[in-house]
Amino acid sequence: MSYIEVTYPTDKAAFYELLAEQVKLYTAGETDAVAVLANFGAVLKAAYAHANWVGFYLVRGGELVLGPFQGKPAVSRIGYGKGVCGTAWAQNQAQVVEEVACFAGHIACDCNTHAELVLPLRRADGTVWGVLDMDSVVPGYFTEQDRDGLAPIVAALPQP
Ligand code: SME
Repeated sequence: MSYIEVTYPTDKAAFYELLAEQVKLYTAGETDAVAVLANFGAVLKAAYAHANWVGFYLVRGGELVLGPFQGKPAVSRIGYGKGVCGTAWAQNQAQVVEEVACFAGHIACDCNTHAELVLPLRRADGTVWGVLDMDSVVPGYFTEQDRDGLAPIVAALPQP
């Protein structure tokens, strides 16, 4: 399917309504979980004008391993409780980081990154199978509204 450019509204409710539609448009009917994550990440990268990295880390044994992503090359493995991603995994809680320089233990993949949003991806039993990681060059770019707006959308993602 060829991508059709859309303009996202500034109103957060309308933004996430359109984002959910776009995710459905480019993932519906796909049975391969990796392909779904790949296109999901591409939709998000197109939606967040100031995101410089969007991608997944997947729980593999005792660490997070890099999955599909959009952006510069990144660290491929993150330990439990390490960095923003490992913290989201360990705490099973989304991390909204206004300025990564203020996050103790932040793992820098791009020196231009200032803000980060990491959401844990959960199974039906509430355990974590991965995280969605988004970086931005704009301090404070991601807010609790983005955390809450994304939560129902990522809840439907399939585990590879
Ligand atoms: N900043 C993340 C590491 C992943 S790179 O941003 C893609 C962290 O601290 O966990």
